[in-house]
Amino acid sequence: MTGFLGGPPLLSVQDLTIGLRRPGGRSVAIVEGVSFDVDPGQRLGIVGESGSGKSLTLRAIAGLLPRGVEVLSGRVEFDGRDLLTMKAKDRRALMGPQIAMIFQEPMTALNPVTRVGDQIAEGPRRHLGMSAKEAGELAVSMMARTGIPDPARRARAYPHELSGGLRQRIMIAMAVSCGPRLLLCDEPTTALDVTVQLQVLKLLEKLCDDTGASLVFVTHDLAVVNQTCSELAVMYAGHIVEAGRVKETFRQPRHPYTRGLLESAPDFDRPERELIPIPGFPPNVADRPPGCPFAPRCGYVREHCTDAVPPLLEVLPGRLAACYESDRLVEVLV
Ligand SMILES: Nc1ncnc2c1ncn2[C@@H]1O[C@H](COP(=O)(O)OP(=O)(O)O)[C@@H](O)[C@H]1O
Ligand SMILES: [Mg+2]
Repeated sequence: MTGFLGGPPLLSVQDLTIGLRRPGGRSVAIVEGVSFDVDPGQRLGIVGESGSGKSLTLRAIAGLLPRGVEVLSGRVEFDGRDLLTMKAKDRRALMGPQIAMIFQEPMTALNPVTRVGDQIAEGPRRHLGMSAKEAGELAVSMMARTGIPDPARRARAYPHELSGGLRQRIMIAMAVSCGPRLLLCDEPTTALDVTVQLQVLKLLEKLCDDTGASLVFVTHDLAVVNQTCSELAVMYAGHIVEAGRVKETFRQPRHPYTRGLLESAPDFDRPERELIPIPGFPPNVADRPPGCPFAPRCGYVREHCTDAVPPLLEVLPGRLAACYESDRLVEVLV
């Protein structure tokens, strides 16, 4: 596969299926046949309701799947190397200097009994061979870059002494301290106040601009994707149901689920617009209905929709949708 600039993608996820181990040894697929590429410098947003498989997809890329959850098939290539088949030691060596992950809740990633400056310095010492002094100075400068006031003093603080917004910045400083080429973010701003959220998003964008890093950004918040990402993948019940460029897809979604997400989300530019919730609930992924998983909630459903899962096909140049009725979605949302 080639990227949009003609070069190879930095990250290529091909037909990834993730399963949950059941007692007795059988696995049930919870993420199925997910494929996407991320080119150098590109910013991909993955959206979908809670439970759609966004976090597991990201964790599979990072090699951080929870216990009992495993990759059943597929490939995850980073810079041409298959992450899933490489030695654990080689994969660990990529985490930090090449690939970094930012989580929703910084306390899960921070060590409560180590000063935050020392935590940021650890990666550069280990991976970049810096002395303690050099790495300590880098930590303070990274903290300054993430907009933490009085960074030299704050570097000596423990995580619990800092606010949620500052802790999230510490985690970002930690993630980018070794200059990764790929940043994986899982709802990094969901727990923050709206104003802090905006600051953190701007910071992530600036860090990517400055270093040319690629971004995969998981969120349930369409406004965040609109602000931060250029490309979009919409997940529903463990499948990608639509993918394309953010602006074009938001203007004219070609999958009823994407359209439903857009119509049910508040639009700050048009607060008077009526919000139309999607009826019903997502299926239990271990027990999907036959055919299209969105069919029971879909306003465009026809009889054949429940025959087989619709394939993800190109419906417009640069746009993929998994819907038999996609041609009927021609309306432009302003
Ligand atoms: N550790 C786990 N054990 C069992 N099931 C899990 C685990 N993590 C996630 N799941 C299930 O997998 C599905 C997808 O989860 P997840 O990727 O966390 O969704 P999202 O991030 O889109 O909200 C959900 O139905 C969830 O219940
Ligand atoms: Mg999640």
